[in-house]
Amino acid sequence: MKEILIEPNEKQKRFFESTARFTAYGGARGGGKSWAMRIKFLLLALGHDGISILLLRRTLGELRENHILPLQSLLKGIADYSESRKEFSFRNGSRIKLGYCDTEADVLQYQGQAYEVIGLEEATHFTFFQFQCLTECNRFSGRMKKRFAPRMYLTCNPGGVGHEWVKRLFIDRRFFEGENAEDYCFIKSLVFDNGFLLKNNPEYVKTLEALPDARKRAMLYGDWDAFEGAFFPEFSYKVHSCPDFDVPKEWLRFRALDYGLDMCACLWLALSPEGSVYVYRELYEPSLILSEAAKRITALTPTEERIRYTVASPDLWNRRQDSGKSGFEIMTENGLRGLKKADNSRITGWRVVREYLKHNEDSPPRLKIFRCCENLLRTLPQLRFDESVKEDAADKPHELTHAPEALRYALMSWEPKEAQKADNPKSFIYSFEKQKPKNDGYRSLINY
Ligand SMILES: Nc1ncnc2c1ncn2[C@@H]1O[C@H](COP(=O)(O)OP(=O)(O)O)[C@@H](O)[C@H]1O
Ligand SMILES: [Mg+2]
Repeated sequence: MKEILIEPNEKQKRFFESTARFTAYGGARGGGKSWAMRIKFLLLALGHDGISILLLRRTLGELRENHILPLQSLLKGIADYSESRKEFSFRNGSRIKLGYCDTEADVLQYQGQAYEVIGLEEATHFTFFQFQCLTECNRFSGRMKKRFAPRMYLTCNPGGVGHEWVKRLFIDRRFFEGENAEDYCFIKSLVFDNGFLLKNNPEYVKTLEALPDARKRAMLYGDWDAFEGAFFPEFSYKVHSCPDFDVPKEWLRFRALDYGLDMCACLWLALSPEGSVYVYRELYEPSLILSEAAKRITALTPTEERIRYTVASPDLWNRRQDSGKSGFEIMTENGLRGLKKADNSRITGWRVVREYLKHNEDSPPRLKIFRCCENLLRTLPQLRFDESVKEDAADKPHELTHAPEALRYALMSWEPKEAQKADNPKSFIYSFEKQKPKNDGYRSLINY
């Protein structure tokens, strides 16, 4: 007979009681996530004879520290541990298997296996592909006598390769076809919910409070828009998004395009007389061939909208092997006129974007994004720093890069040297300057 005293806090109780298909717990440091996961699995193993449980962390080292060692001490005399199988077996036939998915392919070893319960510790360290593969193994194993609805329990902090999908499903609650809103339950817990830690290690909170601002917002308050490594910590949905409105006819408009077959990202931008740039429409669609993309972009632009130019990634001017034509030619033939090559200086370009995002209590940002531009608003705060080039953004996960790159091309098309090409009659900026010579708002933007 072994007695274990379990005193969960309120949030941990809710985690224990949740029977949703997917329950995510946490959102910040020190909220008692790992403890809750271990105890929950112990309760499930004891309460449901023959249940198969899989508990995963991304790497073996983390798994050992975080779970194998604590579970070995917790389950001493309750379950037997096999090091070779990394599995605890209980007398009632239940088992808790521990595993890790270091590489993308490691997840495939679980294919064909069945676990009624799967736990993902630090779920934001897993890719969406890994999560999806694991949901396929989350089914009735046939070893239980009673039926049991399969479920997954996740713990998470903002940040990491999986930040995007965890945020989408549990925080933003934006669902794709085949995903049911009622299947996803999120229980937010902060260090302040963990009475145990507050009492036994008050220094821990002080350490979190001393973190740099963006990291503190993520780790102490569980703010999913501000996570460690965010490339644009200055981005704030509240500050940079604005309700959609009818853009006045006389405002200057242009487009920016990052074309790829994997994703065609096009932004429509307008310039206010005060010198602010508004992104007012976006196209974000995969699998469009060049001619279709050109047609979609023109179709989305009402005829009365006068678009001065469309700046696009320079590789569009490369000749394609299949047709011998360049993307530029194909798009132009299909009705997308006024394409011009973007300046692809990445580091300078990101600095320009940063300048536009900059804001403080006294001055609002120079860039505003309509709420309808969901993908730009979603991906900008998730872009991460490249680990090797200090001032560049990471190109992985690749899906996050398309809309921000289009934005970079757009804002770089206002380069001062372009504005100074006074002898170039085709230059939009020049011709605009000629139209509005006294407007300081525009001028300051142009001379950025
Ligand atoms: N209800 C609880 N009872 C006892 N100790 C707890 C409880 N919740 C958390 N702890 C302890 O608090 C500390 C932090 O919890 P942990 O689960 O590691 O947090 P997280 O994984 O969220 O960072 C650990 O030492 C853990 O054992
Ligand atoms: Mg933990």
